[in-house]
Amino acid sequence: MKAVICDRYGPPDVLRIEDVERPVPGPDEVLIRIRATTVNRSDCHYREGTPPFARLFTGLIRPRHRILGSELAGDVEAVGPAVTEFAPGDAVFGVKAWTFGAHAEFVCMRESAALAPKPAGVSYEEAAAVCDGVILALLCLRRADLRKGRSILVYGASGSIGTAAVQLSRYYEAEVTAVCSTKNLELVRSLGADRVIDYTQADFTKNGQAYDVIFDAVGKHSFRRSRDSLNPGGIYLATDHLFNLVRALWTSRVGDKKVVFPIPPRYTKQDVVFLKRLMEAGQYRAVIDRRYPLADVIEASRYVETQQKTGNVVLTVG
Ligand SMILES: NC(=O)c1ccc[n+]([C@@H]2O[C@H](COP(=O)([O-])OP(=O)(O)OC[C@H]3O[C@@H](n4cnc5c(N)ncnc54)[C@H](OP(=O)(O)O)[C@@H]3O)[C@@H](O)[C@H]2O)c1
Repeated sequence: MKAVICDRYGPPDVLRIEDVERPVPGPDEVLIRIRATTVNRSDCHYREGTPPFARLFTGLIRPRHRILGSELAGDVEAVGPAVTEFAPGDAVFGVKAWTFGAHAEFVCMRESAALAPKPAGVSYEEAAAVCDGVILALLCLRRADLRKGRSILVYGASGSIGTAAVQLSRYYEAEVTAVCSTKNLELVRSLGADRVIDYTQADFTKNGQAYDVIFDAVGKHSFRRSRDSLNPGGIYLATDHLFNLVRALWTSRVGDKKVVFPIPPRYTKQDVVFLKRLMEAGQYRAVIDRRYPLADVIEASRYVETQQKTGNVVLTVG
């Protein structure tokens, strides 16, 4: 099968397409013929080997996993003898975090992993483009007691996690303010934001408004700068930067405003099934910026690294 090989750390050019052996499913695994996958920020961090301490887990000298790609949608090609939930021909979607392998024509996943039937009426490309952002956003939002009457500001509302955070906050019936640049205002409004702020024109920390929750979905803001824009007892949700772990620990003991940074993230089948239901009910939609064929993975990776993608970048396979 064709696969994108990443056997050294470095810029996107270290990637190359090769013919490799097709994986064989174990007793509790399904073999999936991939139709669509994505290039996301985790793929790029892993390929770059950043931050450096992460190499303790991803491989000191070279990447431990030679094929990147975590999000996927495709068809079950074969199943191991112990598999009961899936059968050949089933359309599925999910996320293979930590061990990757989706930048290829086939991949094996355990039946119990973050994998579910593809939502009805949703394309492979759309189904591939949702799991990572949604699950990362869910892990944060579940810690914020979002509900009717609570207010949230999503900073970086146009990224993969941000577009998920806006839609999920809407689902939880919170009052949503979304912050992004001029070109993405209409998009985030269409995702359900009650109010939008263009950060190139206005600084939300200076408009006198306060929120129950501030979600930095893109790692470009800080608790220190936004603390005064939190209501008493407010929560600051972080998605990046390890010092937020220290802040989370500190604020859990001192002060009434808390930092929450849920890492490492857990990707579960329950959350993929939850997402399937949301999509089928029309309560969640994939935001896709660009689509590339698998062979153009280097170009796709370069684009993701600009940190300017809107939503998600899809690779079509086969
Ligand atoms: N916690 C975890 O386990 C985990 C896992 C994966 C990724 N992450 C981190 O989560 C963060 C978000 O990832 P992502 O994939 O959602 O990001 P992304 O899709 O790459 O975000 C791109 C968006 O960020 C916006 N942006 C760029 N610079 C900005 C700025 N200075 N202020 C506000 N918005 C800005 C851009 O839109 P505008 O033009 O509208 O600004 C763009 O639409 C990253 O820092 C990533 O490293 C964390």
